[in-house]
Amino acid sequence: MRLETKFVQAGNRRDATGAVSFPVHRATTYAHPALGQSKGFDYTRTQNPTRKVLEEAVAEFEGGVRGFAFSSGMAAVHAVCSLLAPGDRVVASDDLYGGTYRLFEQILRPLGIQCTYVNTSDLTAVSAVLPGARMLFVETPTNPTMKITDIAGCAKLAREHGAWLVVDNTFMTPYLQRPLELGADLVVHSATKYLGGHNDVLAGIVVARHEALAERIGFWQNSVGAVLSPDDAWLLLRGMKTLALRMERHEQNTRRIAEWLAGHPAVTRVYYPGLADHPGREVHERQATGYGGMISFEVRDEAMIEPVLASVRVITFAESLGGVESLLTYPARQTHFDIPREIREAAGVTDRLLRMSVGIEHPDDLIRDLDQALAAAEAVVSAGLRD
Ligand SMILES: Cc1ncc(COP(=O)(O)O)c(C=O)c1O
Repeated sequence: MRLETKFVQAGNRRDATGAVSFPVHRATTYAHPALGQSKGFDYTRTQNPTRKVLEEAVAEFEGGVRGFAFSSGMAAVHAVCSLLAPGDRVVASDDLYGGTYRLFEQILRPLGIQCTYVNTSDLTAVSAVLPGARMLFVETPTNPTMKITDIAGCAKLAREHGAWLVVDNTFMTPYLQRPLELGADLVVHSATKYLGGHNDVLAGIVVARHEALAERIGFWQNSVGAVLSPDDAWLLLRGMKTLALRMERHEQNTRRIAEWLAGHPAVTRVYYPGLADHPGREVHERQATGYGGMISFEVRDEAMIEPVLASVRVITFAESLGGVESLLTYPARQTHFDIPREIREAAGVTDRLLRMSVGIEHPDDLIRDLDQALAAAEAVVSAGLRD
């Protein structure tokens, strides 16, 4: 079966009743047929039927041996970090999601786990800092400057240095990119984003390529207990049925908006791997089947940021991404606020940068909305100059 079919069929007829939509099993505990016997479910933290169907589905979508559903993307990232011990070192992309950076710096570093940040688009730079590291953690495209990392190249380097390669595949989803097939050991997702797709469920996913790592993640999941609830597992299963359709439309809209923004006089820079001049385009096209629905752009003047955010009408000024509704985010003050200014700016996350999660609305409405917001912002800036 092709992925589109697998997404739609997830959970269908898996229940004894033949239900097309797999039921939500809210029971926290399950009867033992006899002493020492189990029907496969004992206690819901350890295993829950709805979560199990979801975990099997995501493992299949990503091409791994087992999947694990957590209560948030951060819980999933943290579960992956449970493979590390004091004295270990991680090498990570220098343009990471701010929450992952905060976890590395404020939770792991005090525990004696160091992190080295590097531009993972540059394999020479990666190989220079990889010796001695236990894990290589990458996002591609990065959030928010859309830098592209060669997954297969990183997998090869990680193997040579005895490190695990972890890929945060939130931006691409398994519909567009399957890192495990390119040699990664683990994939993580903030399933709150495209997998859920409707801005209504907080969830995280880990998928492991090997049984040995799956064992350890599974042990952590049950021992720490940050599992996804049955209701949220169901929402995620439901959301994923339309993943392929949504991703196609996100991308169509984003391509149009990227080209439109690139020609706008108030916009000085557009980051989108689908644009002809994107520096990582060639690598991205080798490892992914599409460019996704995330775009970042720099406006001419920082003073335009506030009026743009205040003027959008269809687009919502909000954090997060990957839902059907378009969102506009200001990374410097929101998602990347915890990253020190010098590090953030060196990675391209300037005070003039806006990130847009392009939804599946009609693209004409989105362009019209951006157009009036940029015009309103330009009017504010030129009035300020006149004063
Ligand atoms: C790329 C990426 N990874 C991880 C996370 C964390 O996920 P969550 O917010 O579901 O905990 C996010 C959240 O924005 C993200 O964008």
